[in-house]
Amino acid sequence: MSDDLSPAEAAKSAAALKASEYVKNGMKVGLGTGSTAAWLVKHLGERKRTEGLDIVGVPTSTRTAEQAREEGIPITTLNEAKWLDLTIDGADEYDADLALIKGGGGALLQEKIVATASDRMIVIADETKFVPQLGAFPLPVEVLGFGMHTTQLLLEEMLEGLDVTGTKAVPRMTDGQLFVTDEGNHILDLHLGRIGNPRQLSLVLNQVPGVVENGLFVDICDICITGHSDGRIEVRDATSDDAEASERNVFADLAD
Ligand code: 5RP
Repeated sequence: MSDDLSPAEAAKSAAALKASEYVKNGMKVGLGTGSTAAWLVKHLGERKRTEGLDIVGVPTSTRTAEQAREEGIPITTLNEAKWLDLTIDGADEYDADLALIKGGGGALLQEKIVATASDRMIVIADETKFVPQLGAFPLPVEVLGFGMHTTQLLLEEMLEGLDVTGTKAVPRMTDGQLFVTDEGNHILDLHLGRIGNPRQLSLVLNQVPGVVENGLFVDICDICITGHSDGRIEVRDATSDDAEASERNVFADLAD
């Protein structure tokens, strides 16, 4: 690992490097979005050049598509690939059940579609992303531009009756303009503080007209790989049936 990396980047790179080991020749791989996922694409590009790794990637954003092309990784669309072997992506928060908040980078819609269309999803993260309870990170919700201020009011009203601490829905801005997603929609960031029941909240949010998708990923992630700045990594595998092994695997130090 390069000494030039900041502790945070070293941790992300370590997680992404470990996740890249799950990628085998012939696989169709969903490529996530964000600074941690960018490390994954970089490591896969390296494997492509050094060992001729033979994969096809399905990017979850225009940013990731551009980086994959630069790294020489062949890419296709989800429509072409139809179903994927594996998706590897970052997260803004994850809890002990491997429920996630995603969408800090605004790509939650494609990310959720791609992850759901995969046999397995691996999340890569640095240690700051683990939380005992989701909700400190504002939950991104992708909404249609049409009537979005009404959608905002409806969401805030609906949140009053749910097991959350805050109810504020804030339109995401960039350079003084509403943030526009790859699908031409906008994002409302929900400042919830604490999410008591992520599964219920995810279902209820998507019932509000104008909501396209929300950034809660529940029962989608199978494995979470956490990287530390000293190069150590921890793997939590939610798919392990063996309770004892699973216990040992939970944050087991695999670096030695
Ligand atoms: C983008 C995402 C990202 O995976 C999430 O924001 C984490 O990003 P980073 O790895 O830069 O912390 O959901 O929509």
